[in-house]
Amino acid sequence: EPPKEVTINSKTYPVDPEWFNVSSTILNLTSRKLHLQKDHPVSITRQIIESVFPSPTYLAYNNLDPVVSTHENFDSLGFPPNHPGRAKTDTYYINGTTLLRTHTSAHEAELFKASKSPGYLISADVYRRDEIDKSHYPVFHQMEGARVWDRNTVPNGDVVSAVYKDLEALPKHDMIIEDPNPPFHPDRNPLQPSHSAEEAEAVGKHLKRSLELMVAEIFKRVKESHARAGIQHGSEPLKVRWVEAYFPFTSPSWELEVWYQDGWLEILGCGVSQQHILRDAGVASQIGWAFGLGLERIAMLLFQIPDIRLFWSRDERFLGQFRGVEGDWGKMRPFVGFSRHPACYKDVSFWLPGHGGGGAGAAGGRGGEGEWHENDLMEVVRDVCGDVVEDVVMMDSFTHPKTGRRSVCYRVNYRSLERTLTNEEANGLHERVKGEMVGRLGVEIR
Ligand code: PHE
Repeated sequence: EPPKEVTINSKTYPVDPEWFNVSSTILNLTSRKLHLQKDHPVSITRQIIESVFPSPTYLAYNNLDPVVSTHENFDSLGFPPNHPGRAKTDTYYINGTTLLRTHTSAHEAELFKASKSPGYLISADVYRRDEIDKSHYPVFHQMEGARVWDRNTVPNGDVVSAVYKDLEALPKHDMIIEDPNPPFHPDRNPLQPSHSAEEAEAVGKHLKRSLELMVAEIFKRVKESHARAGIQHGSEPLKVRWVEAYFPFTSPSWELEVWYQDGWLEILGCGVSQQHILRDAGVASQIGWAFGLGLERIAMLLFQIPDIRLFWSRDERFLGQFRGVEGDWGKMRPFVGFSRHPACYKDVSFWLPGHGGGGAGAAGGRGGEGEWHENDLMEVVRDVCGDVVEDVVMMDSFTHPKTGRRSVCYRVNYRSLERTLTNEEANGLHERVKGEMVGRLGVEIR
């Protein structure tokens, strides 16, 4: 029953039923482009970050197609063939070689190759099959940035001096920075063979200062916006920390975290770009850095937006609160929530598909359960209920001692952001969810 082909942003792609797992709910969201909607909080957040990375040094690409190849999304970046992110349970596929990008890094190769400026920014919608809760939505928006220096064009071929000169030209800030990490580490965060220690250290310093300045700008806006609503933050300088990380496409790599409301909040991932990406893009003489971050997470902070579903709302009570803010950030204020509607919890217990392990002796012990993944349940709930479900939580799980079959129980929280659901309505949705679970996932309701 999947279609023969799908059309996304007026381009048509052949569907392979073996791979195709993009529901119509998701397909419909490919045209929304929240990051480009005037006065939308995702778009305002994008513009605040863009202001820290000005042209002509950084060129912004905001209209790249969400449909990319497995090569662009994974292979070109150095993801191994067995990387879990490639699984059909995690990624939306159109066919075996075509998918909805899971991150903006899918465009690194093409933009390094285009080489129109020493730096670029990408803002775009990205797609990941995931759980349902207040901070996860299968479509969200990322911003990627990169900066390179070319050994062939910097004065005397001296990248190190060129990078330090650019670093000197960056503004200062008064944040408190915790950075106990060495510039690179042989095991945890290695220097790339084609980089000198001095080069990697210089590029890493430019990367860190650039991103600290971005965080300083965001949190200046957070503070001002909150102050307009009488929320005070105190006068202590902002505290951030750098943590070592791993990405297949950068080394060394880090994450940047900010101290916010008594906890460390992860803001972004970044690192020194893997040289093979630049080499494959035909610009082997360049060296540089890249970062990526989620725009919703920052927008939620800027505007105190409590539930990620709100970004997709067309309700004036939501959209109206940001009108006129684009181009006048002095008007930015925290979102004032609409009155919360009551939650309506419904449980569903079921046997997973397959026949269990055939007893304790069976190899693997997981029996015929290979077909089951929680994300498939999440997708059914989204398809049937749209944005009416707030979260889906596993309550219980047990394996039958004799048959080896596994039974699980999930609790679905039916709560619209916009109106009160009647119990009949929630019951009707829940029955349809159960029906689809049986039909599409092959589970047995208990
Ligand atoms: N693409 C990474 C992610 O989605 C973020 C990233 C971008 C990390 C660029 C390093 C460099 O998590």
